[in-house]
Amino acid sequence: MSYIEQIFKLQGKVVLITGGAGVLATAIGDGLAAAGCKLVILDLELERAENRAQEISNKGGEAIGLAANVLEEDSLEKAREAVLAKYGGIDALINGAGGNMPGATIGPDQTFFDLKIDALRKVMDLNFIGSVLPTMVFGKVMADKKSGSILNISSMAAGPVITRVMGYSASKAGISNFTQWLATEMAQKFGEGIRVNAIAPGFFIGEQNRRLLTNEDGSFTPRGQDVIRKTPMGRFGEADELSGAVMYLLSDAAKFVTGVVLPIDGGFSAFSGV
Ligand SMILES: NC(=O)c1ccc[n+]([C@@H]2O[C@H](COP(=O)([O-])OP(=O)(O)OC[C@H]3O[C@@H](n4cnc5c(N)ncnc54)[C@H](O)[C@@H]3O)[C@@H](O)[C@H]2O)c1
Repeated sequence: MSYIEQIFKLQGKVVLITGGAGVLATAIGDGLAAAGCKLVILDLELERAENRAQEISNKGGEAIGLAANVLEEDSLEKAREAVLAKYGGIDALINGAGGNMPGATIGPDQTFFDLKIDALRKVMDLNFIGSVLPTMVFGKVMADKKSGSILNISSMAAGPVITRVMGYSASKAGISNFTQWLATEMAQKFGEGIRVNAIAPGFFIGEQNRRLLTNEDGSFTPRGQDVIRKTPMGRFGEADELSGAVMYLLSDAAKFVTGVVLPIDGGFSAFSGV
């Protein structure tokens, strides 16, 4: 085995992905399956999770699909039992479930005073609590073994500020902070074998932001044009461009790396826009 193969070795690792049937998680999962990981695809609906696992198997990878709600401890605990019964352990957790909703976003003709507090609560719950709770349930398995890797998904919205997406931004700022906080906690109390990092994807066209960034004919909306202008590479990301960074952060190649939030953004966060 070459040095590179040795330090990036992911073969046989059990990786659980919440929101595993989502757009970005699908691309990340394909990369990890090709690298030899055993994937546990966890999503709200069993059928979607199982279909996704089947797609991975059809390409020669190994995966199982389970239903669980990242906001319900009981359903996460049931999923944990199923994973332990099947694989006997968990090597990595990717908190991939997340999203936004209209009332927590300030539309072009609105102001902060139009914010819907119920929607804000839901967005904070899904993105923040929806990563903390699975980390408590599945992270415990790793902490007990003093070995494992946790990966959160932050966003460019975590800061500097992106207009309109108030609730989503606050929840993702929470995720970046939680990543640093938990990295510290885990290293100090459970040892260096448990690492916690995040990726911060730039702009990737997904179901949730397609209409915000592109028109029906595929051209960019004014908002889409603003994003492209501030992205030195001048384009949106392709979902499969996330998997290399994820493989690095999960592997021993990053064994002294914890608490980082890695932008994958074509330069968006590096550029002032001027
Ligand atoms: N698409 C982008 O440009 C982008 C950029 C930065 C960050 N992100 C973040 O990446 C993550 C994935 O985004 P995406 O665009 O692939 O979204 P997506 O909507 O395609 O995937 C999200 C998945 O999470 C699942 N899910 C939702 N609520 C759940 C719950 N309560 N329990 C379990 N599963 C649940 C959904 O069923 C879905 O399969 C999110 O955290 C998102 O905020 C996306």
